Amino acid sequence: MSAPVLELRGVVKEFASGSEVLRVLDGVDLSIKAGETLAVAGPSGSGKSTLLGIMAGLERPTSGSVLRDGRDAARWSEDEAALWRRRRLGFVFQTFRLVPTLSALENASLPLELLGARPADAEEQAAALLGTLGLGGRLSHRPAQLSGGEQQRVAIARAYVHKPALILADEPTGSLDRATAERVLAALLELNARAGTALAVVTHDPAVAEALGRTARLERGRVAA
Ligand SMILES: Nc1ncnc2c1ncn2[C@@H]1O[C@H](COP(=O)(O)OP(=O)(O)O)[C@@H](O)[C@H]1O
Ligand SMILES: [Mg+2]
Repeated sequence: MSAPVLELRGVVKEFASGSEVLRVLDGVDLSIKAGETLAVAGPSGSGKSTLLGIMAGLERPTSGSVLRDGRDAARWSEDEAALWRRRRLGFVFQTFRLVPTLSALENASLPLELLGARPADAEEQAAALLGTLGLGGRLSHRPAQLSGGEQQRVAIARAYVHKPALILADEPTGSLDRATAERVLAALLELNARAGTALAVVTHDPAVAEALGRTARLERGRVAA
């Protein structure tokens, strides 16, 4: 059995707010393996984005441990954490966050180029992925020339292009109308199943949570059963 891609054990996160200490996460246990899909749900302010930041390694927990590919990340340097992110993670954001001056093809190639792939190879792999997502005819369009649903599919290609082990998505369909959201979610899940990637999605939308394998609901700093 391979180790989970990511495992959180007793993760606590506190923020200082004036003289008070705000304990946002109060002992979160969570793990995700290759091929698993997980919804992270909970009311606004319940700590979903904080949890995603810790999962990504962008924030450190106050206490508790985070294991990445079975290794405790507590002593990793910023460089080691950044390298793990670049190789092993893909992100999908609510607001797409494509580079406005780059084409769809260039946006989707970027993670591979940052890992040192030859531009021609990176573009070949990105083009194949964009084709799978129905964007074969949009390769040279810039983000402003694409609809919201098309932009998010470019962002999904960018998230998967370097074959990461884990995709983190924060409200990936939150900016899209219902019909477009359904199409984008279906594309995301189909690609994820094909790639065998672990996928964690922060969502308010019960329809999105229902389409995923498991739901971790944050309540009072903990994951409710
Ligand atoms: N950097 C920070 N400093 C202080 N408080 C923060 C910080 N980040 C988040 N919080 C607080 O932590 C709580 C959870 O925030 P967040 O993780 O963004 O919740 P959610 O994504 O579920 O809406 C909120 O009360 C928020 O104000
Ligand atoms: Mg949030």
